[in-house]
Amino acid sequence: MLVVPLIERKREGGKLTAEEWAELIGEYATGRVPDYQMAALLMAAFLNGLERDELVALTDAMLNSGARLSFEGLGRPVADKHSTGGVGDKVSLVLAPLVAACGVAVPMMSGRGLGHTGGTLDKLEAIPGFRTDISLDDVREQIERIGCAMFGQTGEIAPADRKLYALRDVTATVESIPLIAASIMSKKLAEGLNGLVLDVKRGSGAFLADLDDSLLLAQTMIELGEEHGCHTVALLTAMDRPLGDACGNALETAEAIGCLRGEGPDDLWQVTLAQGVEMLRVTGVTDDTMVARQMLEEVRTSGRAAEKFRQVIAAQRGDPRVLDDPHLLPAARLTQEYAAKRAGTVSRIEPRAIGRAIVAMGGGRQRMEDPIDPTVGFVLRAKPGDRVAAGQSLAAIHARDETGLEVARAALDSAITIAGRAKPPLPLISHRVTLKDVEVLE
Ligand code: URA
Repeated sequence: MLVVPLIERKREGGKLTAEEWAELIGEYATGRVPDYQMAALLMAAFLNGLERDELVALTDAMLNSGARLSFEGLGRPVADKHSTGGVGDKVSLVLAPLVAACGVAVPMMSGRGLGHTGGTLDKLEAIPGFRTDISLDDVREQIERIGCAMFGQTGEIAPADRKLYALRDVTATVESIPLIAASIMSKKLAEGLNGLVLDVKRGSGAFLADLDDSLLLAQTMIELGEEHGCHTVALLTAMDRPLGDACGNALETAEAIGCLRGEGPDDLWQVTLAQGVEMLRVTGVTDDTMVARQMLEEVRTSGRAAEKFRQVIAAQRGDPRVLDDPHLLPAARLTQEYAAKRAGTVSRIEPRAIGRAIVAMGGGRQRMEDPIDPTVGFVLRAKPGDRVAAGQSLAAIHARDETGLEVARAALDSAITIAGRAKPPLPLISHRVTLKDVEVLE
């Protein structure tokens, strides 16, 4: 195919037809269109945007580049959630078994941490033996048997997105609302879902910090979902501070297990519960928010949600004993408390500084192929708005060596601000977005 005229047209603000997108993405996925031409086209799309029908055509082309799961005849609704990423966001680990225990099938396809944000796969892999690289056949079998699977994007799902995402990552074309929406939704729509809940983060630690951008991304993804018969809803949640107390893979897994057993920090439970309610609503299990909350609370207090997680861990070759004894998770060699240097009100805990410190301490990756140390990170002991005394511990540092401790202390010096008084943090869950409506919840 002749790609140069397509690049020229997009560069001049024109549009490609659905057939052109389909052919272009197909040829790119099979290696017949080179990276340098696709990079030029992506930059033109980044700068000039995509019209609505182009966005649908691009998403379809990426979706059709690979396999699709189908759960027809399962006898249960199927739902997943997607978070745009943050620091301390271990919601998926709690949410998937929780909602599965309410009778919804949850094929939870997740990603790895990149940049300052953490990834669900890395947190799951902190569980000794846990495998996230299961095949789509295994996902299907596990969903039929226990109603929940937690896995990574295989080479089979939307392979064009894998190539395109890697290319965007090195050509400064990631932060484009239509390109992000097509990328995320092509993968989610391949899962054969009846419903999808999007957790769109906002605030300084989010991918898109600005409220209007977050709303537009949410609406764009919802339109794509609904257009493909997948009932899609988004919640906008705060990422101007880390979610929960634990930040770092094994520490977050331990916190998620605690939350499943009823011990978790309240903000983590509130965000999980809100998303769980939406998953029960989008799948038609109930349209009543109070009923949905009660169902989710019941499976947590009865232990059925924890039991579901135990089944998932066992099915994916992990050690299910971690549920009763989180000490079986890997632990850092060194721990140290970090004390407040003055009395006052905690006015800011900057998620990016925390996330970047975890990467620098060995707990995240600069490149996809880097190995990680699951043990390192922080357990925060204060939240924005808390009054603290001088010398009071603000966080526990978990590090593998003295250098890690030093990096962590310096990061906390810049991440945590103590002031005379504090501006209120963003509301934890601020907006509920549907195809028709933006509801302000604050
Ligand atoms: N996550 C994705 O899967 N794709 C993007 O483009 C951005 C975030």
